[in-house]
Amino acid sequence: MDHTQLRAQFPALEQTLDGYPLSYLDTAATSQKPKQVIEAMNKYYLQDNANVHRAAHQLSSRATTHYEAVRDQLKCFINASRREEIIFTHGTTESINMVAHGLSHKIKTGDIILVDSAAHHANIVPWQELAKRTGAIVKPVPLTNDCRLDELAFDQQLKERPAIVALSHVSNALGTRNPVERIVAKAKAAGAITLVDGAQAIAHLEVDVQQLDCDFYVFSGHKMYGPTGIGVLYGRFDQLDTLSPMVTGGEMIKTVSFESTEFNILPNRLEAGTPPIAEVIGLGEAINFISSLPTTEIQQREEELLSNLQQQLKDLGDITLYGAHEDNIGAVAFNLADEHHQDVGILLDQQGVAVRCGHHCAMPLMQSLGVKGCCRASIGIYSNQEDIERFIEALKSVKEMLL
Ligand SMILES: Cc1ncc(COP(=O)(O)O)c(C=O)c1O
Repeated sequence: MDHTQLRAQFPALEQTLDGYPLSYLDTAATSQKPKQVIEAMNKYYLQDNANVHRAAHQLSSRATTHYEAVRDQLKCFINASRREEIIFTHGTTESINMVAHGLSHKIKTGDIILVDSAAHHANIVPWQELAKRTGAIVKPVPLTNDCRLDELAFDQQLKERPAIVALSHVSNALGTRNPVERIVAKAKAAGAITLVDGAQAIAHLEVDVQQLDCDFYVFSGHKMYGPTGIGVLYGRFDQLDTLSPMVTGGEMIKTVSFESTEFNILPNRLEAGTPPIAEVIGLGEAINFISSLPTTEIQQREEELLSNLQQQLKDLGDITLYGAHEDNIGAVAFNLADEHHQDVGILLDQQGVAVRCGHHCAMPLMQSLGVKGCCRASIGIYSNQEDIERFIEALKSVKEMLL
């Protein structure tokens, strides 16, 4: 694989900022998009723009065929057993909200919902809302001192037979990877419904939902080289089929009268209103792009880059790393001495380096780390050694300025 050619597919990376070449180390927030994704969306708007499913004309038929073909692509991409198990949403956040809302009728007062302590707010707040509606109780699964999910504590918590276990595949704030297959197996043996938030895993790991055996798996298109505004809710057919729709109207109905309304079958039942058609097409193209690359080589490259990044940060001194393990995925979280993460981020930006600073939508995790926030550098398929070197050089000069 020629990495220079691969990187050249991402036009946004070619720019300079204040005379410095851009080092984009914020892929965990959103990835850059390859030309072919942008072109596929343009082509749809230039030639095929029409609503899906509804009209007899050719434009609509082309749009519908393309839209539905992406569902088939996704079925293969994550190895779902049926195309109806793929629901298009607007992103991970909406997917989790749809599950938490849709399970309301299965949850009763006193039921326990276990959520991992490093979870993104999108995988905490919808469960809190479900708990408010039903009288259920949300309990965090603690972390060990080195920021891994505490499996011994989890095993104890399973004795209370939780109704739902929701955990991240990979933590967005730290890049730590949860042993999801084992956790899901244990949770299912205890009778829980399982949801895995794959927002930070989908672009880095091969995901096989049948092998994972989870009930729900959710992710966003924009973190896997696709557009914003499109996400996926995978659900096992029997689970999806009994999920109450959160949004109603449009394609999700079969018949409507003022006396009664009959809902459509899956997948339409959970896709109300005009869907994000161009975004679905863009996501399909992102899958084409990812699938055309040598997966093992890409994964090895990313692993090497991340371990190099972790090592260089350690070597710099005055750096605190949070939960930095060898098997982490895509991201490293750190603070420079007692300096405010925002100051560090702004000074890095002035040298062309884009990192994320703040609580990373994981305030409970920040509390347990005893910090208000931190900086996070994250890599993607296009990141290279020069990005890392420029980042480390910039951080050295920030250190000289501030310490
Ligand atoms: C682990 C995780 N879950 C959920 C989300 C929310 O994703 P979105 O904003 O695309 O809905 C993110 C976004 O950063 C994430 O990293």
